Amino acid sequence: MNFVLSLCARLVFVVTLLRGQDVLWVTDARIAKGNNINLGEALQFLREYDSEASSMCLRVTTAQWSYATNMTDFNKRRMIDEQTLKAKFDKVSWRKAVEFDWSRIPDPLARRLLRMLVTNSRASLGDDKFNEIYHLISEMKDLYAHVRACPYNNFDKLYCDLELDLDVKRIMAKSRSNAELTHIWQEWHNKVGPPMKNKFMRYVDLANQASILNGFQNAGEEMRFAYEDENFESEIAQAFHKIQPLYKELFTYVRRQLFKRYGPRVLRSNGPIPAHLLGDIWGQDWSNIEDIVIPYREYKKIDVTDEMLRQGFTPLRMFQMAEEFYTSLGLKPMPPEFWRYSMLERPNGRKVQCTVSAWDFCNKIDFRIKQCTEVNMNDLITVHHEMAHIQYYLYYADQPYLYRDGANPGFHEGIANAISLSVNNPTHLYRVGLYNNNTDIYETNINFLMSMALKKVAYAPFAYLVDQWRYQIFEYGVKTMNADWWELRLRFQGIVPPVKRTESHLDAAAKRHVIADMPYIRYFVALLLEFQVHDVMCDAAGHRGPLHTCDIYRSREAGRILMDILKSGKSRHWKDIIRVLTKGNTDTISPEPMLDYFEPLLLWLEGKNKREEEKIIGWSTKKEDTALFQPLVSKGYSVGCSLVFVINSVLLLVLNM
Ligand SMILES: *[C@@H]1O[C@H](CO)[C@@H](O)[C@H](O)[C@H]1NC(C)=O
Ligand SMILES: *[C@@H]1O[C@H](CO)[C@@H](O)[C@H](O)[C@H]1NC(C)=O
Ligand SMILES: *[C@@H]1O[C@H](CO)[C@@H](O)[C@H](O)[C@H]1NC(C)=O
Ligand SMILES: [Zn+2]
Repeated sequence: MNFVLSLCARLVFVVTLLRGQDVLWVTDARIAKGNNINLGEALQFLREYDSEASSMCLRVTTAQWSYATNMTDFNKRRMIDEQTLKAKFDKVSWRKAVEFDWSRIPDPLARRLLRMLVTNSRASLGDDKFNEIYHLISEMKDLYAHVRACPYNNFDKLYCDLELDLDVKRIMAKSRSNAELTHIWQEWHNKVGPPMKNKFMRYVDLANQASILNGFQNAGEEMRFAYEDENFESEIAQAFHKIQPLYKELFTYVRRQLFKRYGPRVLRSNGPIPAHLLGDIWGQDWSNIEDIVIPYREYKKIDVTDEMLRQGFTPLRMFQMAEEFYTSLGLKPMPPEFWRYSMLERPNGRKVQCTVSAWDFCNKIDFRIKQCTEVNMNDLITVHHEMAHIQYYLYYADQPYLYRDGANPGFHEGIANAISLSVNNPTHLYRVGLYNNNTDIYETNINFLMSMALKKVAYAPFAYLVDQWRYQIFEYGVKTMNADWWELRLRFQGIVPPVKRTESHLDAAAKRHVIADMPYIRYFVALLLEFQVHDVMCDAAGHRGPLHTCDIYRSREAGRILMDILKSGKSRHWKDIIRVLTKGNTDTISPEPMLDYFEPLLLWLEGKNKREEEKIIGWSTKKEDTALFQPLVSKGYSVGCSLVFVINSVLLLVLNM
């Protein structure tokens, strides 16, 4: 079998090589380009694009805002009309941009802008396919929004009306019954994936076609191209492997607590963790099982909600407090339009989307936040986080349209979370008069770091693997895509499905980003960047002591560093920004500050894990684990291989003609 496989692989390889020589436009010419190298015409086009794209963005954003804050049928129709207009505009812009030979335009700014325009679009597809992929994605989003699960004790199956946001998430967070958790996990995954599977496969096919026409080998390569760095993949892989030891210590400790709670009939004491026990439908954020894993139960979790209520906080006052945080760093106050038009509370008398978001209306004036703010500690942190996005918008407002964005796709979220690291720690809450207890108790600090680790460290392998999977299926195909998904989750997260999965399922579709065509690796980048930026700002603020106790409040020096990142937007290469940020120490996204932040917890975990008897840090995998998702071993491989071989040969024939 092995021999046959490798022989077959070699043949395919040879055929591919031969083909490569014939079709120079695929492998050599790479990114799509035309013949026009007239600089004057290029600049003229870019000027027009800049002003038209800005006004198009204003129209679409205005329509989206109207619908999100007033969900009527009329507003929905208007929003869809505007979005369709925008898609048409993007297509026309791509066609104009691709007439230029960006690589030979004698102006670096124009060159980069043109390249951004031609590599971030599906417009290379003809009209039919362009419309098809556009509709496929909205159909999948629609299906996702309408999935309803049946409750656990619902014998007559009459009331299958559990929604993701309201019910599924709540049950996964609160229930401690293995049977109920298994049921809900299975319900959600069985209902979301299978109906989308065919659509998703067609989407993969079309996305690849578009990318190939743009000059890439597949859609995954085009997704990574957004980072404008050929070492990007290997750099983040290295960072990921540096974080894994910390993840495995956390994992081992958490598994032990789960084993104590659920026993050997639910999980092995040295094996992977079944995905339904982690308090979250995706197993990406383990905060909800804090009650099971808290290190020092007798030391309460810090929560200033009662104090906020006692002091008579309102949503408005929370936003004013966040504004004061930024002005204390020397940053800008919120403009009058922000206060006039934002939706800071859930309004009465109309239906609204309560998901928190920060908006840039692309006219350099109008910036808003939409949040159904409640007076509690969690929302206080969120308010600071969202306002960081607004600060970013304010500072890069004068850049060209295409540069009004984070330096790379991870920056917006990374910066906003770096701010949250200062705001949510006891030192800061003490300084703003919300917390008067001693912040220097060892047990309280370990509890605090544990709650941060359940959010951040637990998230690292998940944030990393979602796009590893996508790159894989874009490159190697969809034949075993569900098994591939679980293979990655087992290898990187140590997580297995609670029940048997097959290729009729599509469990990755449980994550909306996957079917909504939204890249995910940015969240892994943001996670590392968060600690890296926090570290640099704390240094500038003259902070001494453990990184998790640092608060940059009132530091003009930290503010200057922040401002420098914000005002560049996307105009400078992100590697430049990191080089300046770290005073030349590095130009990569480094995992060290994150490890530094969690160092005290790592020591604590190592101490705990050493003393226990399972003697394994991480997980050992058995056949019974992989049997949960692997297709029955069959002739699948050789069939697949000869199929590829046949296709390759046919192509070779066609191309040689
Ligand atoms: C909500 O939208 C409708 C149009 O569908 C409009 O007539 C109404 O005035 C809007 N309400 C508010 C409060 O903006
Ligand atoms: C069914 O389960 C829900 C929790 O999922 C519980 O609130 C409800 O009381 C249960 N109903 C019955 C009839 O057991
Ligand atoms: C401060 O400590 C007291 C006593 O230990 C406790 O009751 C109180 O909840 C703490 N306050 C906060 C905000 O954690
Ligand atoms: Zn955010």
